[in-house]
Amino acid sequence: MDVRTVRINASKSYDVTIGKGLLSECGGILHSALGVCHAAVVTDSTVEKLYLAEVQKSLAGAGFAVSSFAFPAGERSKNMAVLSDLLEFLAENQLTRTDCVVALGGGVVGDLAGFAAGCYLRGIKYAQIPTTLLAAVDSSVGGKTAIDLRAGKNLAGLFLQPSAVICDTNCMNTLPEGGFACGVAEAIKTGILEGEELFTLLENGRARENIAEIIARCVTFKGKVVEQDEFENGARKTLNLGHTVGHAVEKCSGYSIPHGQAVAIGTAVIARSAASYGCCDAESARRIIKVLEVNGLPTHTDFSAIALADAALHDKKRAGNSITLVMPRRIGECTLETVPIEELLPIIEAGLEG
Ligand SMILES: NC(=O)c1ccc[n+]([C@@H]2O[C@H](COP(=O)([O-])OP(=O)(O)OC[C@H]3O[C@@H](n4cnc5c(N)ncnc54)[C@H](O)[C@@H]3O)[C@@H](O)[C@H]2O)c1
Ligand SMILES: [Zn+2]
Repeated sequence: MDVRTVRINASKSYDVTIGKGLLSECGGILHSALGVCHAAVVTDSTVEKLYLAEVQKSLAGAGFAVSSFAFPAGERSKNMAVLSDLLEFLAENQLTRTDCVVALGGGVVGDLAGFAAGCYLRGIKYAQIPTTLLAAVDSSVGGKTAIDLRAGKNLAGLFLQPSAVICDTNCMNTLPEGGFACGVAEAIKTGILEGEELFTLLENGRARENIAEIIARCVTFKGKVVEQDEFENGARKTLNLGHTVGHAVEKCSGYSIPHGQAVAIGTAVIARSAASYGCCDAESARRIIKVLEVNGLPTHTDFSAIALADAALHDKKRAGNSITLVMPRRIGECTLETVPIEELLPIIEAGLEG
C-alpha cells in the first residue's frame, strides 16, 4: 500500500499519515501514537453513516474502549450548545486525562472536537481523521480549533496540536463534487503560497487524479509554516489568503455559502484587487482566477463591497484601526500588508470588478 507520512514538528511532534484504506488501520496507528485508552469518536450525522462503524471496529480491534458522539452535519452545529453537549458526553463516559478524542469528519467536526479536547479536564489528547478534502489539506493539521459565536465565525477557540492525523484518501470518493471543490479551494490557496509545483498540479482541474500528492504537499507546506509560527504572530497569517473577504462572504450569506466556496471568492477578489493596485502581476492574477474556475469554484459574489467590508471589519483579524491582508504578488509569493480600515472598502471594490 502506498502510504505517505509527513512529520509535523510544532510544540508537539506528530505524524500525518496519508493513504488509501487507512480507516481500517486507524486502531493500529493510534495505538502507536497514543497507547491504548478510551477513545471518544466525535463525528457528524453524515459521516456517522458512512465511516463510523469501520473506525469503531479498527479501534476496538486494537484494544481501545470506544464510545461515539454524533451531531447534525453542517456549520450551524459548530456552536456553544453542541460543544456543551459534547463536554457533558465526555464526562458521562468518564473519560480521564489519559483518554482521547478522535475527530472523524470534516473541518466542523475537527474544530469542535479539538476544542472540546482542549478544554475537557483542562486538555486531553486528540487525533484527527479528516474525511473531507478541506480537512485533509488544511484544518486537520496545525492545531487551530474553534466554534462560531453569534457575532462571527471561529470567535472562541484554542490552539491544541493533535497527537496524530490519519487521512484515508478513499473517504474523498464519497464527497459530492461541490464538497470536494471546497477542499480544492484551500489547496489552491496553499498552491499560491507554496509555488509552481503544487499550483500547476491543480491547474488541469483534475485534482482527484493526484489526490494523495496534493494532500501531502499541502500538509507539508502548512506544517512548515506552523513550525515557524504556531500561534499566528507572523508567518502563519499568510495562510489566511482569501479569508478576509471569504469570511465576509460566509457571514453575509448567513453561513449558507460553504467555507471553501467563500474562500474561492475571497481569493479571486484579492487577486483582482492586487493586480489592479500593481502589487500582483496580471498573468499570476489571471492564472489564479482560471485555476478556481477550472476546479468548479465561484469567483464572483453579488454582495456589495460595502456589505463585505462591513462584515470583514467585525472579523477578529482586525487590530484597532488597521487590518492585515494577505496580498498575492505572484505564484509562490504573498506578502502581509497592514492597511488602515478605511482602505479596505476601495480594495474590495477593486477586486469585485473584472
Ligand atoms: N482549524 C483550522 O485550521 C481550519 C482551517 C480551515 C477551515 N476550518 C473550518 O472547517 C470548516 C469547514 O470544513 P468542511 O468543509 O470539511 O465542512 P464540514 O465538516 O461541515 O463538511 C462538509 C460536509 O461534508 C460532509 N462529509 C464529510 N465527510 C464526508 C465524506 N467523506 N463523504 C461525504 N460527505 C462528507 C459533512 O457531513 C458535511 O455535511 C469550517 O468551519 C472552517 O471554519 C478550520
Ligand atoms: Zn479556510
